Amino acid sequence: MSTYDVIVIGAGPGGYVCAIRCAQLGLKTACAEGRETLGGTCLNAGCIPSKALLHASHSLYEATHNFARMGLKTTAPKVEWDAMLAYKDDAISQNTKGIEFLFRKNKVDWLKGWASIPAAGQVSVAGQTHEARAIVIATGSDSATIPGVEIDERTVVSSTGALELQKIPGKLLVIGAGVIGLELGSVYSRLGSEVTVIEFQDRILPGADGEIAGTFRKILGKQGLKFITGAAVRKVDATETGARTTYGPHGSNEEATLETDTVLVATGRRPFTRGLELDRLGVNCSKGGQIVTDSRYATNVDGIYAIGDCVDGPMLAHKAEDEGMAVAENLAGQAGHVNHDVIPGVIYTHPEVASVGETEESLKERGRAYKAGRFSFMGNGRAKATFSSDGLVKLLADAGTDRILGCHIIGPAAGDLIHEVCVAMEFGAAAEDLARTCHAHPTYSEAVREAALACGDGAIHA
Ligand code: NAI
Repeated sequence: MSTYDVIVIGAGPGGYVCAIRCAQLGLKTACAEGRETLGGTCLNAGCIPSKALLHASHSLYEATHNFARMGLKTTAPKVEWDAMLAYKDDAISQNTKGIEFLFRKNKVDWLKGWASIPAAGQVSVAGQTHEARAIVIATGSDSATIPGVEIDERTVVSSTGALELQKIPGKLLVIGAGVIGLELGSVYSRLGSEVTVIEFQDRILPGADGEIAGTFRKILGKQGLKFITGAAVRKVDATETGARTTYGPHGSNEEATLETDTVLVATGRRPFTRGLELDRLGVNCSKGGQIVTDSRYATNVDGIYAIGDCVDGPMLAHKAEDEGMAVAENLAGQAGHVNHDVIPGVIYTHPEVASVGETEESLKERGRAYKAGRFSFMGNGRAKATFSSDGLVKLLADAGTDRILGCHIIGPAAGDLIHEVCVAMEFGAAAEDLARTCHAHPTYSEAVREAALACGDGAIHA
């Protein structure tokens, strides 16, 4: 038996970051992980592999749609699916090995195996029980399915199966127009699949800013994705060549069917805490299965903490990482804190979609007076030169104080542009602060500044 200051359970972005920071702050730390590689869902079957396939399929799009426009004559590239999957696997392996290196460098012990918690202060892994002053649960989430739909990871797949399909489907049905559905729907659409997305709500990306979601739907429609909104999937049956999906408008008996080679179920994720026996330990969980914590990520059981997808809040790797660092700082006697009002969200399609803070809908709902500064990438010189002028930046600021409340971007490099607004929000900046900051020309960032100018006396290039 070994004794640690901290044992983190789960080596996804929340867990591994927490473990490294604990070790850096002088705590004797171990991290239990049952997968054969570190990095959790994000590195092994989520963020990283999907970004590799998004990059490869976008490169194909560029070659087939934009090369000739730039005077680059070439024959259209042929997709070798096995080689593309191997590239994706290489991206995974480089990243997971990187975490192993960081564990060794920071002297974090990797306890290999699935952990259980026999009692507060104890963690069992592979038949051995270890003691720890603090246990941090960072076990993440897994795909949630819907009634009538069984995932077999061959024909009916979750995001995990969608990242290793045997072949590119001729026809793909995506259930759910959320982040996973739209990212992976984009990948296969660019690789030649006929992609239909069925969404329960009347719009895509429920919860996102409505104007941005509407613009996004039009752009994806132009790229060839078909959308059926306001429809519930009732069942998916296997056929000889794939699957038959029955769906219809919710609240009505009308029914239609759609036959496809593959069905991707992207209807959300749920906390993954199986095997931890939280009930027996008396750890409080919500109805949705999230572990309940206080603002310091402590559960109701002394010495047990929880972070990331298995607690409340957006299921995002970077939110988990920040919570991991905060809990490590708290355990080391510092004052760790995460500002949940400033957590960016990014969809890595082309164009990218990024957001932070309030939406127009959330501000209206709360009756808060605001102003919106908009700037279209049509007025951005750099975007025009790179065929990426579809989209806009929308900055939301308080009508009275001009303080920035939120920002929503659809356009080139949106996922990078959003961060200047995040920093501004952390510093409590006004739209005028951004507007008066000199931005280099020609950059996409000028569009953010123009949106800030539009909150005041007006944008220049609109
Ligand atoms: P999601 O919650 O983003 O979207 C699920 C969608 O499915 C919703 O639009 C919902 O209305 C719809 N839906 C639910 N039941 C349905 C039904 N019966 N028929 C039709 N539509 C139905 O969940 P998603 O896309 O599965 O992603 C899971 C989590 O992973 C999210 O929290 C997401 O933020 C995160 N994620 C983040 C990524 C990123 O940051 N780029 C990438 C991938 C996932």
